[in-house]
Amino acid sequence: MGKMFEALKKAEKERVKLLRKAGEDPAVLTDGDGEVDPHLVAWFDRMSPISEQYRTLRTNLIGLDAEDPPRTIAVTSSIPGEGKTVTALNLAITLADDKEARIAVVDADLRKPSVHRLMGLDNQRGLADYLTGSVMLEVVLQRFRLPNLTVLTAGRLPGNPTELLSGKKMEDLLTRLSRDFAWVILDTPPIVSLTDAAVVGSRCDGAILAVKMRSTPREVVREAVALLGKARVKVLGTVLTHLHPVLKDYYYYPYN
Ligand SMILES: Nc1ncnc2c1ncn2[C@@H]1O[C@H](COP(=O)(O)OP(=O)(O)OP(=O)(O)O)[C@@H](O)[C@H]1O
Ligand SMILES: [Mg+2]
Repeated sequence: MGKMFEALKKAEKERVKLLRKAGEDPAVLTDGDGEVDPHLVAWFDRMSPISEQYRTLRTNLIGLDAEDPPRTIAVTSSIPGEGKTVTALNLAITLADDKEARIAVVDADLRKPSVHRLMGLDNQRGLADYLTGSVMLEVVLQRFRLPNLTVLTAGRLPGNPTELLSGKKMEDLLTRLSRDFAWVILDTPPIVSLTDAAVVGSRCDGAILAVKMRSTPREVVREAVALLGKARVKVLGTVLTHLHPVLKDYYYYPYN
């Protein structure tokens, strides 16, 4: 087993070396052959009002500090199912409109990951595998149908997600990604019952809180904001989701 592992590692290193030599980005060259989820409106219909709202979100994020905007951003919510993943991915796709900017998406929801499913990507290996030390980063990075959008899916579910996310290797990964990419968007689990988003968010420039409109109780959102504050996570703003019956579109309010 040990020998096989060594051989695989060697093969991986060779592959990365060859790709680099050929001037290729060693990020995996497949675009994924699964279907892209229709909730990724920014991918399917750039001209829709919903995509326009994501552009507004991008503008607002940059507007927070035009000189030095937040570039590593965790997306979280108070409770499950509020639209974190959908928000994170639409935002990343919108940021990738700028062809000069390299964007990375990281699925840091190591409990109920879904980035791979929404993007139609493979999830044989990903963040958890990288953090547990068995693979090189270059081998777990994938590309989502755009040359400048790189994705690190969650990988095999680990038994100790919080430990992995709070470890030194995760910290180093974020440093590396923020050096190599213009924006790094991280999907995380909900904050109220799990500490993962606080751990990840505290190592980012800030967090966006997805809030399911007319559903998540106000006090629960307050609790989420308090928890993020306690963990020294900068709340950059909230994104209201599931607005169809009210306003048809998505809305963004800067959080003051
Ligand atoms: N902005 C939105 N407007 C309308 N519906 C949405 C929106 N975002 C997500 N949804 C719906 O809510 C469901 C949950 O979305 P999503 O998977 O993004 O939530 P999540 O917060 O990441 O959930 P989990 O806590 O399970 O990770 C989606 O399948 C979709 O049907
Ligand atoms: Mg999710």
